[in-house]
Amino acid sequence: MKINNIKEKLRTKLVGTELIYYESVESTNRLLNELAEKGKEDGAVLISDRQTGGKGRLGRQWFSPGGVNLYLSALLRPEVNPQNSAVFTFIASLALLKTLDALNISSQIKWPNDLLINNKKVAGVLTEMKNEGNKLEFIILGIGLNINLTSDAIKENLPKISDSVTSLSIEKNMVLDREDVAAKLIGFLDEYYLQFMSEGINSIVAEWSNRWGMLNEEISVKVDNKIIRGIARKVDNYGFLYIENDKGNLEKIIAGDIESN
Ligand code: BTN
Repeated sequence: MKINNIKEKLRTKLVGTELIYYESVESTNRLLNELAEKGKEDGAVLISDRQTGGKGRLGRQWFSPGGVNLYLSALLRPEVNPQNSAVFTFIASLALLKTLDALNISSQIKWPNDLLINNKKVAGVLTEMKNEGNKLEFIILGIGLNINLTSDAIKENLPKISDSVTSLSIEKNMVLDREDVAAKLIGFLDEYYLQFMSEGINSIVAEWSNRWGMLNEEISVKVDNKIIRGIARKVDNYGFLYIENDKGNLEKIIAGDIESN
């Protein structure tokens, strides 16, 4: 990736004011975590062209070949209660959505943190945090976005899930400028981080809820091998999902995978 092409396009106030680039790392989340421990400042962004051990949610791996996608981590040091850290996952999803809007690609947010195009996953977010007692010390917001990944590469490397994975180039039928996509994403991360600081958590959760494609839809969520079915009613400031079951009661879901919608 040509990191200077990203830098030239950035007009951000906080996120991306420091931009660190590597050709290859094990995981951008992991490396930025180490840099954060050594005092790296709020808003630093780390991008790698490829990852040898990209991390996904729930202990999964994130397929991270070189030359095609975006693997980005942002370090945030917000003053917020650690229980509200889910708001940063929402910030990442909203920034991804806006980036795709700007590219004229219509996409949908899937709780808690996936971005879908035509029901196929194009991006994922892995939020990690470090607390000191009850105080949040920092957040690492990790974003993986499939940009120019080909369907052949998906079929070959992700055979079990190949029907549910896509990339921007597959959906647009053209090769995209990765640096331009990265600059747009960093710009929107900055905008939403500043919005969070000036307007608070509620404004982010409200905007996320408005753009959440599954509100009031019938969904199934897999939680510890149990399937919970019902109508998606809301997401709260802690990032929890509430489903109305057939008895009319609201069930709170802390973590799980939406199976269908
Ligand atoms: C998911 O499982 O949906 C989340 C995937 C997050 C992947 C990104 S790629 C950049 C950052 N570094 C990592 O090791 N993981 C995240």
